[in-house]
Amino acid sequence: MKSPRSLIRPLVHDLHAYVPGEQPKIKGLIKLNTNENPYPPSPRVLKAVKAAVDGRLRLYPNPTAQLLREKLAKLHGCGPENIIIGNGSDEVLALAVRAFVEPSQKAGAGSQKSECKVQYFHPSYSLYPVLADTHGAAKNAVPLNANFTLLTVAELKRGGTWDFNAALTFVTTPNAPSGCGYATSELEKLCRATKGVVVLDEAYVDFARENALKLALKFPHVLVARTFSKAYSLCFQRVGYFVGHPELIAALDKIRDSYNVNGLGQVAAVATLEDLKYYRANFRKIISTREELSRSLTLLGFRVLPSETNFILAKPPGGALTAKDWLEKLREMKILVRWFSYPEVKDYLRITIGTPAEAQALVKAAKAILSS
Ligand SMILES: Cc1ncc(COP(=O)(O)O)c(C=O)c1O
Repeated sequence: MKSPRSLIRPLVHDLHAYVPGEQPKIKGLIKLNTNENPYPPSPRVLKAVKAAVDGRLRLYPNPTAQLLREKLAKLHGCGPENIIIGNGSDEVLALAVRAFVEPSQKAGAGSQKSECKVQYFHPSYSLYPVLADTHGAAKNAVPLNANFTLLTVAELKRGGTWDFNAALTFVTTPNAPSGCGYATSELEKLCRATKGVVVLDEAYVDFARENALKLALKFPHVLVARTFSKAYSLCFQRVGYFVGHPELIAALDKIRDSYNVNGLGQVAAVATLEDLKYYRANFRKIISTREELSRSLTLLGFRVLPSETNFILAKPPGGALTAKDWLEKLREMKILVRWFSYPEVKDYLRITIGTPAEAQALVKAAKAILSS
């Protein structure tokens, strides 16, 4: 008999899976580690989901999420053929790798040919390298400027490491984990210069000054990714989507699972679009808490990067404690934030914006740590 291990592809053996933020069930925990929205879905959404829970659960959902695509098309001024829905935006990101990138000839080795390349800035969303590795594609991680701003096309040309022909380029905009917003005019120049497919991952865009959706309708090689998880309080239901050229969308549609978006997720997302006023009020609350928290932490000596998202990247004041120590001390005080070990951000904490009361609790805890 073959050992189970020998039945697994070598590429899969060597994979490092994506590490999601923890979801501990600790009573009274203030959870500021996974950029979830502190406010619940609108009462209309809860009502719609509850009303859909009956004997119809035995039926398959609409395979193309037709109603949701129609509603989104209306919102974005395009047609349903410009939209594909996924089981969270993570799914459509993964579909893009499978549809547009050739796997390298030798699994894991990573050919440097442009058609095998997944390209992204570093640091940005840490799922992209995992998706590339899973597919056996090559990775091209191009460093951002030291202050996490975007490089101009001229700088990318001078730098020589950006592949303008890479099969697929991911740009997190506004960026994570820096929170840094990018101007649509700069993104437009980048899209114009880059010839492969460009995905503008706008997971946090509702908290930003600008969005780049128009680029997905202007350029045939640009896709914009959106999600209901962050701004629309719907992580649990897993709904995300791409907007882009019908030909790219049709290619992605061919390789997705037939019923990739669960029925209750479709119901919840449709109801969300019928109550956007509720969510827009929440964006304003979160942005105002973000600015207030940034000010308070800055007064305590933190270096807080300007954010256009629902989280901040903040460097604790120099002293005996490292950022990792801060993570642990805050955890002891039942406040969970996120810390990443890689060099560019290891001195920072990524803090999700919660309610004003949660932000105040964090500031109080930080004061206590500083005075202890
Ligand atoms: C930049 C970015 N894109 C996409 C996602 C995935 O969102 P979803 O819940 O829609 O899969 C996340 C989630 O953390 C993210 O940070």
